Amino acid sequence: MNYASEDLIQEHEGILYGLQILEKMVERYNRTKSINVDEVNEIINFFKLFADKCHHGKEEGLLFPEMEKAGIPKENGPIGQMLYEHDEGRKYIKSMEEGLDKNLDFFVENALQYINLLRNHIIKENTILFPLGDRRIPADVQKHLLEAFEKHEEVVMGKGTHDELHELLHRFGKKYIEE
Ligand SMILES: [Fe+2]
Ligand SMILES: [Fe+2]
Repeated sequence: MNYASEDLIQEHEGILYGLQILEKMVERYNRTKSINVDEVNEIINFFKLFADKCHHGKEEGLLFPEMEKAGIPKENGPIGQMLYEHDEGRKYIKSMEEGLDKNLDFFVENALQYINLLRNHIIKENTILFPLGDRRIPADVQKHLLEAFEKHEEVVMGKGTHDELHELLHRFGKKYIEE
């Protein structure tokens, strides 16, 4: 890999797959009016751990600060917008958990908002913000970022967790997507 964004774009694929699973879970609930709460909680946990802690953590703590140093504006600019959207996502996650507990229609509403938000967010990063960073951030900093990403991953998730999450996507993919 030459660019820090390449690692993040790869992670976007995993996140998009998780969103597809969540969407299928919602569709199944709308069809059957029954829901497997434990499994939905597992996929929510995937978003909390992988999408937010690991992935958004890399962006907020490592990539975005280097983008700022390279002259890409934060306030009223693309970085500020991405940070705002990460926060919106956290609110939807919280509401999804609340809904799952007390009101399934509220869960569905927030799950659909979350799916829509993150899909659009990923398109913006892949097509606008990341290419900008690739052009502006120098090669030695890109290399340093990729190393820092690896360390971050180990610290926030640990090696075992990464494999467990892959296994989770695989298992739910079989059950909900390839049914
Ligand atoms: Fe992001
Ligand atoms: Fe991202």
